[in-house]
This record gives sequence, structure tokens and C-alpha cells, in this order.
Amino acid sequence: MNRRAALALPVVALPAQAQPNLAPLRQQARAFGRAFGAAIRSEILAQDADYARLFATEAEILVPEWEGKWEALQPTEGTFDLAPLRSIITAAHGHHQRVRGHALVWHNAMPEWLPRRLADGASAARAALETHFNTILPATRQAIRDWDVINEPIANAPGADNPQAGPNPLRESPWFRALGPDYIEHALRLARSLDPTLRLTLNEYGIEEATPDAEIKRNRLLALLRRLLDRGTPLDALGIQAHLQLRRPFDAQHFGRFLAEIRSMGLAIIITELDVREADQLPPDITARDNAVAQRVREFCSTATQAGCRTIITWGLTDRHSWLTQDRDVARRDNIPTRGLPFDTELRRKPMWHALAGVLSG
Ligand code: G3I
Repeated sequence: MNRRAALALPVVALPAQAQPNLAPLRQQARAFGRAFGAAIRSEILAQDADYARLFATEAEILVPEWEGKWEALQPTEGTFDLAPLRSIITAAHGHHQRVRGHALVWHNAMPEWLPRRLADGASAARAALETHFNTILPATRQAIRDWDVINEPIANAPGADNPQAGPNPLRESPWFRALGPDYIEHALRLARSLDPTLRLTLNEYGIEEATPDAEIKRNRLLALLRRLLDRGTPLDALGIQAHLQLRRPFDAQHFGRFLAEIRSMGLAIIITELDVREADQLPPDITARDNAVAQRVREFCSTATQAGCRTIITWGLTDRHSWLTQDRDVARRDNIPTRGLPFDTELRRKPMWHALAGVLSG
């Protein structure tokens, strides 16, 4: 039917209980000036055509789940391998998608040579950082305009699962031990000096829920951000990982006040790794579990968008491939596969998908 004929048709008002808008999340988000994306794995992208098609349809932004980390990019000192990352960039370009980089400075996913090099002292650590940045940022400059430069710099609060924690508000990572607390400012300034228009993000987890530990972490993060910005450190956005946990309470008003504080500093807010860990005690009934996950996502994401967050990224798209099922530290103890992403293992939309659609287009 041509456009003229289509326009001539009477517009039929749908009943109030119209079918939900099933347009792809990237399309619904874009229509309201927002962006939706998801973390992707290059080896699955190459092997699973349905997985690849789902990402092409639903995500405007792709985040390499592993391929942008030191372990992947510089597996041996001075030898770089950008092929896995480039495979994600190539896929993105084929579907008008953007790629955000993750993660330039982190204490995990370090190739085995790196901690040894950092232990050689400050000048060796600075040299390693500069070699990595001087190689990766120019090589990806055309394709990646936004990096998690600093990942998880805040120390977890001392608690039952963290008995060794001390009073230091910063994680005593190999970077911290080699360069002191100024490693954060140093890395951000280095990235900005290499690429003046690159968006620089500091990314953190465990700052979302209404628990004493999250409150301690939020306050430590606010203090770090104030100190960085008071010193004129280049920083554009706070990445909030949002690995939400249903066993922990969420206080929308309190979290909204925290986000308002971040926004008052002039920082953008990005939800960078959204997924939901179910509480083990949830009944195995899938409908109840999916609805509980969707409700938390609706509360959390609407709080974030109301505070000005315009980018929501989930840590994967389908339960078929989620760290929540593969990593024993976070999987359900009853071994029931977690259902913490928008699509199930058969790539069917779940209530979480509809919750995201409602927030992104709300
Ligand atoms: O090591 C192999 C490598 O030899 C092989 O070439 C490659 C092929 O893709 O796979 C590698 O396997 C694993 C990789 O995930 C594949 O995706 C790595 O062993 C494994 O350590 C790695 O785990 C990732 C983890 O970060 C550490 O990098 C998870 O997939 C990823 O979901 C997880 O993501 C983190 C974020 O970066 C930061 N926030 C927390 C989040 C969950 O832990």
C-alpha cells in the first residue's frame, strides 16, 4: 500500500487496553530522546545468529562484556589484540549502533603480567598505563567515543563478606598500591589529553540499594567525585552498574536524592550494567519471579530517568548468556537459572522487557 493510500485510511482509535508497544527498545528509547543498549560477547556474536539478530534489533549501544579489558586487549606485555573488540565494532557499524568502551582501569581481568609490572613501582605503572592508553584510545577513536575509564574504585564497606576491609575509602587495587589515590585523576587526565572529546566515565557498583553498606559506598563515592571535580579533573559521567539484588530493599526517594547530588556536580548518569539477581527465597514460580524482577526494574529505572539519566544499558539481553547464571558467586544457590535480563533463554520478551519499554518511552 502506498503512503497516500495509507494516509487516506480512517484512523481507528484503539481501545484503552491497547496492545503493548512491542517496538524494539532502541526505537522506543530513541523516540523519547533516550538510548538503550546491552553488553555483548564476541564469541557468542560469532556463534549464535539468533543472539546477534536480537542485539541488532533491540540495542542502540553495544558494550563489550570482556573484549575492552586489559586481559583481552594486551594479553602479554606490549602485544595487543584488538580483534575481539573490532568484531563487536564491525557488528555495531552494520546496524547503526554505537559502542561504549569498558574498562580502561580495573582491578579485575588483568593479564597475569600486569600485577607484576605494577608492583615494580610508580614509574613502571605509569609507563604501563601510558602504553595501554596510547595504543587503545587512538586505535578505537573513530568507533568508541565513551569509555569507562575508571571501574570500581571505591572500597566496599567493612562487613561480613568483606572482613579484611579497612578505613580506606578507595579500593586498595594494584593501581592504588602502585600509584596511590591519585591514579584515578592521573588516568582521567591521560585519557582527556589523548582525546579531548572522549566522554570519560567513572563506573561503580553496590551504590543502588537501601542498605548500610550501599550508603557508605555512596558517601565514599560522593567524596571522591567532589575531590576530583574540585581539582578540575576531567570527568563527564557516573556509570551506575545496577546489578540489582531483590534480597536488598530499594528506596526510590533516597536514591533519587543521591542522583540529584550527582547531577548537581554537572555529571551525566548512565545505567551501565543493569540486571537483577533474584533472592534465593523467591518461589520457583516463574511468573512471580519475573514480576518481582520487572517491578524492581520499573522502580529503579524510573527513578534514574526522573533524575535525568538518558542511557540504560543491560548486562546482556538474554538469560541464555548471563554472568548471573555462569558465575557461581552470584548464581542462585538452588541452581535455578536466574531470570535477570529482558529476554528469556528462548529469546522471548519477559515482564522486565515491558518494564524497560515503559520507562524508556514513559
Ligand atoms: O578467558 C577467556 C579467553 O581466553 C577467551 O579468548 C575469551 C573468548 O571470548 O573468553 C574468556 O573467557 C571469559 C570471558 O568472560 C568471556 O566473556 C573470561 O575467562 C572471564 O573472566 C570473563 O568474565 C567476565 C568478567 O566481567 C571478568 O572480565 C564476564 O563475562 C563479565 O560479565 C564480567 O563483567 C563485570 C564487569 O566488567 C564489571 N562489573 C561487574 C561485571 C560482572 O562481574
